[in-house]
Amino acid sequence: MTHSISEKPYKGLGMEGAVARWYASLTYKSLDEFRALARRVAEQVPPGSQILEVAPGPGYFAIELAKLGDYQVTGLDISHTFVEIARGKAGQAGVKVDFRHGDAAHMPFADGSFDFLFCRAAFKNFSEPVRALEEMYRVLKPGGCAQVIDLRRDAPMQSISQAVEGMRLGRMDALLTKLTFRFMLLRRAYTRQDFEQFLSQTKFGPNDINESSLGLELSLYRTQAT
Ligand SMILES: C[S@@+](CC[C@H](N)C(=O)[O-])C[C@H]1O[C@@H](n2cnc3c(N)ncnc32)[C@H](O)[C@@H]1O
Repeated sequence: MTHSISEKPYKGLGMEGAVARWYASLTYKSLDEFRALARRVAEQVPPGSQILEVAPGPGYFAIELAKLGDYQVTGLDISHTFVEIARGKAGQAGVKVDFRHGDAAHMPFADGSFDFLFCRAAFKNFSEPVRALEEMYRVLKPGGCAQVIDLRRDAPMQSISQAVEGMRLGRMDALLTKLTFRFMLLRRAYTRQDFEQFLSQTKFGPNDINESSLGLELSLYRTQAT
């Protein structure tokens, strides 16, 4: 059954300041996972491609991808703190990634700008999810693909506990992370049926939606020029 959230208010508090810095240090411990994801994307996306990461946060995935090949990588995030952190990290890594401030539901890009789009652990936070999907479609080139990876609303607590244990966090961070999953993230997340309902309101055609014990992974293709 779908739940009725089609718009959520974004109050601009979300992930700024100390919260963003805490998230950046926490997820740095999962750098291997970002590297593996970047390698997986590099296997499917040819060199020279224009790639957009929507909501990159501290930018680990985008930076790892930029290290792997001749890609033009852009990141778009609504948090000023994250844009600043991500720009700093790209500078330290010596790679060029264009990290910009902006809203997934109102992207500052021309139609058909990107060959590939990636969005991880962020879609559930978007205040206008259908609008964000429409924007993904608009900024993709015909033939382009958007990959969206996020938590499943119906993920069992046991899978969440296992995932948090795999993050190699200290006791306090592990506890805080489990509580965040339980009381914030699961409540915001979507089911497969929610995604199907959102997608039916967009121009994306039949799509692949794969489920794992913890999350959903969508591969969305723009097949048409309009
Ligand atoms: C949990 S973080 C995920 C960051 C990163 N993708 C990762 O995998 O670690 C969620 C991100 O979504 C961003 N965000 C939330 N609403 C947004 C919006 N409407 N447009 C762009 N970014 C947004 C937040 O600022 C934050 O960077």
